[in-house]
Amino acid sequence: MKSGKVFRYSEDDSRGRVYDARLMGRFYRYLHPHRFMVLLSVLLLLAASAAQLVQPYLIKIALDDHVLPGKREGLGILALLFLAAFAVETLFRFAQIYTMERTGQSLICVLRLQLFSHLQRLPTSFFDRNPVGRLMSRVTSDVEALSELFSSGVVSIFGDLIRLFAIVVLLLWLNVHLALVTFLVVPVLLGLSFFFRSRLRRTYRRVRERIARVNGFLHENLSGIKIVRLLRQEERNRNDFNRVNRDHCDAELDSVLFDSLFSAAVEWVGSVSIALLIWYGGGQIVQGAVTFGMLVAFMEYTQKFFIPIRDLSSKFVILQSGMAALERVFGLLDTPLPAPPERITALPARLRGGIEFQDVTFAYGGGPPVLKGVRFRVEPGERIALVGPTGAGKTSLVKLLVRLYDPDSGRIAIDGIDLQSVDPVELRRRIGIVLQDGFLFTGSVASNIAFGKNGLSDTRIRQAARLAEAEPFILKLPSGYQEEIWERGNNLSSGQKQLLSLARVIATDPEILILDEATSSVDPLTEVRIRNGIRTALKNRTALVIAHRLSTIAAVDRILVMDHGRILEEGTHQELLRRGGLYQKFFELQKTG
Ligand SMILES: Nc1ncnc2c1ncn2[C@@H]1O[C@H](COP(=O)(O)OP(=O)(O)OP(=O)(O)O)[C@@H](O)[C@H]1O
Ligand SMILES: [Mg+2]
Repeated sequence: MKSGKVFRYSEDDSRGRVYDARLMGRFYRYLHPHRFMVLLSVLLLLAASAAQLVQPYLIKIALDDHVLPGKREGLGILALLFLAAFAVETLFRFAQIYTMERTGQSLICVLRLQLFSHLQRLPTSFFDRNPVGRLMSRVTSDVEALSELFSSGVVSIFGDLIRLFAIVVLLLWLNVHLALVTFLVVPVLLGLSFFFRSRLRRTYRRVRERIARVNGFLHENLSGIKIVRLLRQEERNRNDFNRVNRDHCDAELDSVLFDSLFSAAVEWVGSVSIALLIWYGGGQIVQGAVTFGMLVAFMEYTQKFFIPIRDLSSKFVILQSGMAALERVFGLLDTPLPAPPERITALPARLRGGIEFQDVTFAYGGGPPVLKGVRFRVEPGERIALVGPTGAGKTSLVKLLVRLYDPDSGRIAIDGIDLQSVDPVELRRRIGIVLQDGFLFTGSVASNIAFGKNGLSDTRIRQAARLAEAEPFILKLPSGYQEEIWERGNNLSSGQKQLLSLARVIATDPEILILDEATSSVDPLTEVRIRNGIRTALKNRTALVIAHRLSTIAAVDRILVMDHGRILEEGTHQELLRRGGLYQKFFELQKTG
């Protein structure tokens, strides 16, 4: 948990544009299936605005044609019309918001699924480079921002513009002189928005970057909470978090400052406009050039004119973060998938199980090579142990064999079929693999054993558990086979996890078995059980075992010794001991250690 690491999570929306036509063009394609709903929503919005703009005019008629001349009749109807206009406005507004949100939600569903499927197909190396926290925020908050961009951004800004335009036209139509007086302040407004625009944009971007840091920091620290405690890093991480958190609060304060300054300034300009109307319009009334109702209507319209302008800054945020989200979501969707093989070779119905590595070289994402010209053969049905010091490249080698990664050069073949032309899913169905860290999933014990093999009967599950010698501990669990396993198998000990993983591989009965033996040691009884489980799992199939236990090494036909990404020695236990190389040293150490 180095403090510098935190900054890897910083957001990468360097452009921070408010409107990007290319991105929006692509976004509109997602809206296409919903175009009728969008059209309906726009129509509703226009109707609601019309109903809203009628209201001041009704007041003008009531004042000028009825109140001032002292004509009572007709006032009741006008009051009812006013109410009706208000009712229509609210009803249409509700319908508009609902249709908009509905479309927004369908958009979210489609995009999230698309992102998830894309993530599922991305090469494993992608996940080495991209922290989980960041990917999660792509699928959750970024998609959310997109839907907001659409539902409260684009459409309502469009509605605001239409309303502003309508008010300008209305005012000019009602009285050109008064209208021009009202619009005297417009240059000031333009100046204000110009002044605040770049400042607001910068602070909003800073807020987003910093909240992403807070999230990234939290993710790393909570998922690694045990390590943090063991290394007693609480104090230091608290200080780091304090810094990240404070940075975010400062940025948030800046944005609140500019935001409230901006809306206060707009309100103030609005009042200047009203004051001008009182001064100039009042004089016009005295001279008899303007009616009283007209002035009241003007004031009403002027107020309605300033509301959308005042809210502009919050719309601005939505647009800006929506654009950044669009950029990131599309960026993820554009991450290229592995090229499909030129031709797919189906694996035969029954694999014989011969494995061949021919000069395989491999490095993780442009790093130093981890495998350097690895070359070996495993005959069908042969059981091979792979041994070597930590970091030698053993786990990497078996990851290539199940195509979690592909070699940079060289060739890997099973029964003479180049793996590059085999569908990885098909390959993994035929090769059973037990990983070093024995990953389990939430679900029952039984479903974890049957995992990867649909419709496995209870009898088979129990049989496998018995063969793996996992049954004694399973039966001791409060709910036995139905006991729920927590996330990542957190409620099981490491020995229990190993036993379950063995039961799983025995149950699925693969044609080729890969076993990356766990290094953690267990009590002697469990040790014996694991040993017997491994022996059962190895029976009657080709197996490649990364062995740490002598008992496992004793159960195989041949041993490969690896170091620094190369196979250094190869032979039976006796042969290797006689050679007096790395293996012999290893063996001596284990015996005495
Ligand atoms: N996902 C990864 N990204 C980058 N480098 C990695 C990754 N996984 C492993 N490495 C590096 O590759 C090298 C070989 O690792 P590997 O896991 O294959 O070792 P190993 O032989 O299985 O060791 P052990 O006995 O400790 O399990 C190491 O130097 C390691 O740092
Ligand atoms: Mg390993």
